[in-house]
Amino acid sequence: MYPAYMGESIRKVEASRERRLEETRPRVGDQEKAALLTEFHPDFIKEGMRELLVGPNRGEPTPNEVAALLEGNSRVNPDKINLGKVDHDVDVLVIGCGGAGASAALLAQENGAKTLLVTKLRLGDANTVGAQAGTQAADRSNDSPAIHYLDTIGGGRFDNIPELVEALVRDAPSVIKWLEELGVNWDKNPDGSMHELSGGGASRLRLHSARDYTGLEEMRVLRDEVHNRCIDYLEFSPVIELVMDDKGQVAGAILVNLETNELTLVRAGAVIMATGGAGRLHIQGFPTTNHYGATADGLVLAYRVGAELIFMDTMQYHPTGAAYPVQILGQLVTEKVRTLGAQLVNAEGEQFIMSLEPRDVVASANIRECRHMKGITTPTGELGVWLDSPMIDLLRGEGTIARELPAMVRQFGRYNIDITKEPMLVYPTLHYQNGGIKIDPDGATTIPGLFAAGECMGGVHGRNRLIGNSTLDIFVFGRRAGKAAARYAREVKLGALTLDHVGKWQAELKEAGITESRPATPLLLPNYARQPDDYLADYARKTLSSGQIKVA
Ligand code: FUM
Repeated sequence: MYPAYMGESIRKVEASRERRLEETRPRVGDQEKAALLTEFHPDFIKEGMRELLVGPNRGEPTPNEVAALLEGNSRVNPDKINLGKVDHDVDVLVIGCGGAGASAALLAQENGAKTLLVTKLRLGDANTVGAQAGTQAADRSNDSPAIHYLDTIGGGRFDNIPELVEALVRDAPSVIKWLEELGVNWDKNPDGSMHELSGGGASRLRLHSARDYTGLEEMRVLRDEVHNRCIDYLEFSPVIELVMDDKGQVAGAILVNLETNELTLVRAGAVIMATGGAGRLHIQGFPTTNHYGATADGLVLAYRVGAELIFMDTMQYHPTGAAYPVQILGQLVTEKVRTLGAQLVNAEGEQFIMSLEPRDVVASANIRECRHMKGITTPTGELGVWLDSPMIDLLRGEGTIARELPAMVRQFGRYNIDITKEPMLVYPTLHYQNGGIKIDPDGATTIPGLFAAGECMGGVHGRNRLIGNSTLDIFVFGRRAGKAAARYAREVKLGALTLDHVGKWQAELKEAGITESRPATPLLLPNYARQPDDYLADYARKTLSSGQIKVA
């Protein structure tokens, strides 16, 4: 239920609805777009970024919160780790187990690799399950991978790596088919054809969905498949350091079991990083749509072995995170609400932006309205604009909201807000890491033996990802990385295992004047959680004699 003082503004939204049903807003032109972004998008706030002091991307602007972690020290003391005692010897180690990790593991195994999947939380605890709107693939007669390509690079501010986009859009139709064969229940029309929608920055209907819980449905079948194929996996076992060999190849990892605090050494012919994003770093204080484990771990681990990153100066702020009630602050209000026809309107009931512009543009426009005092302030001091959901049923017929957006109806219904009758209050929320570990179309990073897939990699989306392209890239590049890593592992000859890179990293930190005060990384859990250091300190206390772990 909304507080009484918001009633006056809600009545203005209702009063303008009939007029707005007829109103089309023009798309913003190039100049207006540039002005909007530079003035209002968080990526353009200079104080929010700083140059990295160490590593292959030294000198490049990076959000402060990410930079602090990238410049962190290792959680392990290399001198105290016994690299002679290998606990798991595999062809392919997959780190992280959302859509990208699970796909990579399936394809690695399918290509003959002995595969181990390890995950910080549980199988499927990932941003994938929170993805709501759908997955893009050009599979209709009026569409083509070429049109999908153009939409994607237009949305990405023309900075995307062309070969990656080509891989993305070419593989897309076969990914939809693969997922359907694994059991995904795509929304279909009565004649059995795919029920496809559009989204911000997309010029065709190509969003394949399962109501508004698409990622959950996709992860359901992948998790089943991992079980069905008896792929080995370890839960609550985050990687705390990669292991190299004396030829400069990535050759395994050290894990810590969060329940027992034991360390485990995995030797692997190839390692696939699929650890997801960084939303739980709450960059610039934004709330987030991300799951609890999204703490940039893969970036940190890959960076420490020398892997290059790309586009780390760009994050995605989803235009519509819940701004009220406070219990769901920052949670995703799917873009599908706008796809179905809901408009964004300010406190005066005025539509101020074409709702299906790319996300960076819409987020900037929402921030502008609030800065220009045309937003609503909540009782806890948050700001928001209205997303006029009741328009959907007016445009598409009664019952559309209930049918297409059951998760949204429930999410707000729990707080006595009926989105079929009342608008939703929204504000941008940290949603996605546009950049990440640099890869080639097979998921290979700049370091031999290390592959990456999913949100921890960067380049394919340029500086702004379009809706439905991440629940596509996780499968496209997860599958490609799984296959390529299996092939690589068949041929590689590993040398002696070493953690020399940790010593080199520490020397580089010292040379850059970075002192002990940097956090031990990867972070593993967000700052408001009991810190891994607490667990590791417990472990160190219990096993002091083993001397295996260094507490930061
Ligand atoms: O709005 C959404 O449902 C989010 C989709 C996405 O990030 O692709």
